[in-house]
Amino acid sequence: MSLMIEGGRRLSGDLTVQGAKNSVLPILAACILSGDVCVLQRCPHLEDVDTSIDILRHLGCAVRWNGPDLEVDSSTLTRWDIPDRLMRRMRSSVVFLGAILARCGQAELSYPGGCAIGARPIDLHLSALRTLGACIREEGGSLDCTAPCLTGAEIVLSIPSVGATENAMLAACGAEGVTVISNAAREPEIVELQCFLNEMGASVEGAGSSTVVVEGGRVLHGCSHRVRPDRMVAATYLCAAAGAGGSVYLEGADYRQLSVVLSVLQQAGCRIRSDEKGIRLRSSGRLSAVAPIRTSPYPGFPTDAQAVMMAALLRSRGTTVFVENLFENRYRHVPQMQRMGANIRTEGRVAVVCGAEELRGAPVRATDLRGGAALVAAGLQAAGVTRVEETHHIERGYSDLVGDLARLGARISRSET
Ligand code: EPZ
Repeated sequence: MSLMIEGGRRLSGDLTVQGAKNSVLPILAACILSGDVCVLQRCPHLEDVDTSIDILRHLGCAVRWNGPDLEVDSSTLTRWDIPDRLMRRMRSSVVFLGAILARCGQAELSYPGGCAIGARPIDLHLSALRTLGACIREEGGSLDCTAPCLTGAEIVLSIPSVGATENAMLAACGAEGVTVISNAAREPEIVELQCFLNEMGASVEGAGSSTVVVEGGRVLHGCSHRVRPDRMVAATYLCAAAGAGGSVYLEGADYRQLSVVLSVLQQAGCRIRSDEKGIRLRSSGRLSAVAPIRTSPYPGFPTDAQAVMMAALLRSRGTTVFVENLFENRYRHVPQMQRMGANIRTEGRVAVVCGAEELRGAPVRATDLRGGAALVAAGLQAAGVTRVEETHHIERGYSDLVGDLARLGARISRSET
């Protein structure tokens, strides 16, 4: 499967932003804590969500779509293992570990897969669960975990890892007593997980700050939750319009969650107006270089927006330096962008982008989720036709990239080859 893009058209119009992938994945794992029916309203339909559904069904849960809503009944859960073939399909399969342990007192799974953006260890996840009393044996890539009685404790994360914070929160809900997670990740997805857990009857406080406190041992129940809009999908469309030029309004996009990205786009010359309902961006399509962009945990510049911001700046006036601090292999889109005439040099964690006069359409390959989306954004500004191959990476996180961009006036289509 590939995408064909005829570049050179400005983007204009309104879009409603899909529900957030990185919120819904831990929430799907959290559903099993309730032993009841949970409804996720406006759940995005994505490859990674399908993988979570396959895991839930394997565990014995009943899962069904009801229009845009997903219903998960975990009262019928009978298993505590996840087969390797499901674990390998995405990184987020590992957040099921904390939830299964809290519900069943044991779990059997293997190391997770996910985008190839660098080494992605799970040592912090395992150490947090061990602190709560889990006994975890690692053997030949498989994890055999038992925790007949999890006990609340103080967990200090050496890095504010998003996934490890989520796993600790999920397991702590099933632990007796109080758990304090220090140096917790502060991402909006952590806040949404806290909100969902509390809707199920849990007691979690502090998400959004670096200390999260969970009072465990409560009896949980089903709930209905509306999934919040995806800040990275919003960032992708803002950067796509910034680079191609035009005027777009993204309904549901939250300016508070995107303040650093919006400030860079403004610095580059875009005009931005935000209100409680969404964000409007206007761009001439010819941006200016900006001060160095250094990725860092929230509320810093998000690593997930690095590639799409680079795409926006490929034809800018001047030179912009990127420093990728989260993952060591997150410039895999660069050689693909170079095929389109982009002027980028990389060394280790640094990429230097000198604005090119023109980009030319070329056949390129999506190497990971956000890098793939960035190639589409580059194709929208390029003269001629860009073919983006291996689009399954993009489908892991965007429910309708082609439809959304076509609605904004892009010439983009799917090709079976
Ligand atoms: C989440 O991944 C996101 N995924 C990623 O989005 C995102 O890039 C990342 O957070 C950073 O913001 C989901 O939410 C599903 P981390 P996660 O644990 O939780 C190191 C996308 O495109 N680390 O916060 O896996 C790690 O190597 C995806 O949607 C350890 O050393 O990220 C990294 O350098 C890609 N040991 C840093 O921490 C551990 O046990 C942050 O990773 C865990 C992490």
